[in-house]
Amino acid sequence: MPIHPNTRTAVSKLAIPSPIKKYFLDEEWEIDLSNNTNPYSEKFSEYPDVHQYNLKNLYLSRISPLSVSADPSSQQYPPLTPDNILFTVGSMEGIDILLKTFCEPNKDTICILHPAFSAYEHWGLIHNLEVKNIPLVGENLNSFSLADVVKINPKMIWVCNPNNPTSTMLKRDVIEQLCVSIDGFVVVDEAYIEFTDQPSSLAYLNKYKNLIILRTFSKAWGLAGVRCGIIIADPLVIHTLRYVQLPYGVSSPTQELVNQCLSHPEKTFESWQRIKKERENMMDALSTLGAVERVFKSETNFILVVLKDSRRVIKLLKEHRIKVLDCSTSIPSSIRVSVGTEDENRKFMEVMRKASGL
Ligand SMILES: Cc1ncc(COP(=O)(O)O)c(C=O)c1O
Repeated sequence: MPIHPNTRTAVSKLAIPSPIKKYFLDEEWEIDLSNNTNPYSEKFSEYPDVHQYNLKNLYLSRISPLSVSADPSSQQYPPLTPDNILFTVGSMEGIDILLKTFCEPNKDTICILHPAFSAYEHWGLIHNLEVKNIPLVGENLNSFSLADVVKINPKMIWVCNPNNPTSTMLKRDVIEQLCVSIDGFVVVDEAYIEFTDQPSSLAYLNKYKNLIILRTFSKAWGLAGVRCGIIIADPLVIHTLRYVQLPYGVSSPTQELVNQCLSHPEKTFESWQRIKKERENMMDALSTLGAVERVFKSETNFILVVLKDSRRVIKLLKEHRIKVLDCSTSIPSSIRVSVGTEDENRKFMEVMRKASGL
């Protein structure tokens, strides 16, 4: 397979890394004495499966009822296959290799719908790219100027949807508008998509070759310590990323734990319902409190709360050894609070009531 025409010059001159190439050859051997591994150790003595076809199919089978087929417009596109998927060492690796593969250092510009997850800007700057923040505006901080993006015509635009830290979602046709309006890639980070009933952008994947979706096992799937993220994109994008990704990064224990989680998802699915119910209860309760200025309507497993005096409330929470994220630098006087267990949420709410003089 050729590589993507928009690949960085340095990458386009490379051969596929030999550990990956070897497995593409699909040869069958009875005895493998080519890897210098220890023949006397047991379970994990061999290098990990680099293709993970079964795991990819299992993931697709789990997400299709959740997001793809739930959306009637998806029916007109071909279904996704393992060739649309790359597992990564958390989404963080996905962010890093997308920039590393397609964006030319000291030359290309990326845009970020801002405020957003800070890693896009962090790795953009590491890769010596020009980073332009496009402000999210409006009541729910979920609109922006498409004209400004078109004027810049970035190599890549980063869209966190649902967004961290605002917890809100863009209208889905905005993603479609972005895909048709710029020459570069539209990366939609759906780290929190399992917590919303709004449709995913997955349905557009086979329609727009410049659309790339990021998912993770760290949030809703409860496997942050396992480190596994997912890039879903056109097969040519996925193939090209394999020239850059560190071979064998997604380890055998990681694959095993993800497999276990996807094979028995009932408890995980049940936890999503619990989290969503708790979220609604917390949003309702928070919006009645005197210390609270405003509660954003959350489509995620966290809530963005604008406070009358965030410094005072954060101090009080700290005295009760409760940690929340201070988001005041991007959204004045705001905190981001994750939806915890029922007990944790109760303790958090107690302090919030105290902060409101109750
Ligand atoms: C929007 C978003 N994307 C990606 C990540 C990182 O995910 P991972 O643990 O898979 O690297 C986070 C973590 O906070 C996030 O909020």
